[in-house]
Parts: sequence; C-alpha cells; structure tokens
Amino acid sequence: MNYFKALEKLLDCSSAPYSGFNVASIVVTEDGNIFKGVNVESAAYPTTICAERNAIFSAIAQGIRTGEIKEVHILARNAKKDLVAAFPCGGCRQVIAEQSLNKATVYIYSSKDDVTARSISELLPDAFFSLS
Ligand code: THU
Repeated sequence: MNYFKALEKLLDCSSAPYSGFNVASIVVTEDGNIFKGVNVESAAYPTTICAERNAIFSAIAQGIRTGEIKEVHILARNAKKDLVAAFPCGGCRQVIAEQSLNKATVYIYSSKDDVTARSISELLPDAFFSLS
C-alpha cells in the first residue's frame, strides 16, 4: 500500500526547529496495524529522536511484539520545503533490524510515485543482534 498522503500530512507534526528537516514514518505490522512517528528535535542536539525510531517505539509501547514489524515507510521535507528521499540513519537501521527480526522492507518516498523499496538486510548487512 502507498502511504504518501498520510506521510505528507504527518510531516506537519514533526518538530524540527533546529534543522528545519521534517521526517515522517509509518510502521506497518504483520496484521496490518499502523503506527506513526515524526522526528522531534531538542536544544541539546543528541537528545533528538528520529521519526523511524519514534514510530517503532510507539508501536512497542502499544503492544506489538518483536518480529511483528513488516514495513517502515519514510518521507522527508528539507528546510527549503522540498520533499526529499531520506534513507534511515544507522541507528534507525539497527533498531529496524532488531525489531523486525531482519524481515522489514523500508520504503523511501520522494513523491507519491517515486518510492524506493529496500530490505533492511540490504540497508544493514550483517546486523548485530545480541550478546548471547
Ligand atoms: N532524522 C530522522 O528523523 N530520521 C533519520 O533516519 C535521519 C535523520 C532526523 C533527525 C533530525 O531531526 C533531522 O532528521 C536532521 O538530521
């Protein structure tokens, strides 16, 4: 399914006063439930949270279990207000890999019809999984 319209609307919920770079993410679970996230920036820059992790953490807080995440959809808008393709950062790739048990497909949009699909194992080969 194409989530462009919902992502575009969600961009307005992003709080990015420092970078001006808005990111929206929608996580879809195996059973078709969706969870939304946006980036939220902080004056203490490293305490910023990315949209993808916000969506995944929200999904977990609402009861989804590890391995149930099927898709992660992402749309971004730069400070000039242009929609741009934004691939997930390394930290978000790690969390997507762990929480989907390496099964998620990530969809990176720059418009309704320009969507790049990548498996998380393509985006993060040889992911680190646990200490045991
Ligand atoms: N950002 C995300 O939300 N997701 C990513 O995968 C990369 C970066 C946000 C963090 C920050 O608020 C802004 O984009 C600029 O880095």
